[in-house]
Amino acid sequence: HAIAHIELNAVDLALDIVARYASEPVPHSFFDGWMQVAFEEAKHFRMVRDRLRSLGADYGDLPAHDGLWQAAHSTRNDLTARLAVVPLILEARGLDVTPSLQAKMRETGDLESAAVLDVIYNDEKGHVAIGAKWFRFLCAREKKDPAATFRQLVRANFRGPLKPPFNDLARAEAGLTPSFYRSLTSVSQ
Ligand SMILES: [Fe+2]
Ligand SMILES: [Fe+2]
Repeated sequence: HAIAHIELNAVDLALDIVARYASEPVPHSFFDGWMQVAFEEAKHFRMVRDRLRSLGADYGDLPAHDGLWQAAHSTRNDLTARLAVVPLILEARGLDVTPSLQAKMRETGDLESAAVLDVIYNDEKGHVAIGAKWFRFLCAREKKDPAATFRQLVRANFRGPLKPPFNDLARAEAGLTPSFYRSLTSVSQ
């Protein structure tokens, strides 16, 4: 249920980037990328909801939080900050937690749910990659160092430290290298 909620919010978050920043001077492929993300998030929501239904439950059975929207709200006036928080923190977090969640599903014999997460995991690497690509693009345009800018925007727009362990391999494949996030794991930074 929690994953279904995240996926449904992810549809809105991707489309919010397209609509809210429609007048940003960025190449058209920026918007194509986020439309592709929105399409894949909708696919994820459908897959997870179908899985919930086949287990006798449904989306809406449990209460849900609005933490993802709070992240969107706090970065509503700054596209670079939005990319730092949504794809590069929240979606990257999915890469960290999914493999161990799949292992638990397989342990309990729920191979079908684990297979759904395989699809999500692979697509999410692409979402983080799109985020990292455009984050780097915006930093290069303003002649800013991407890793330092990321750390500064996260401190200003995201509550609390990032939670290790990180899936360094999957993050790096998506273009998010440890210099971005390593020093953000403790509040004292
Ligand atoms: Fe997703
Ligand atoms: Fe995603």
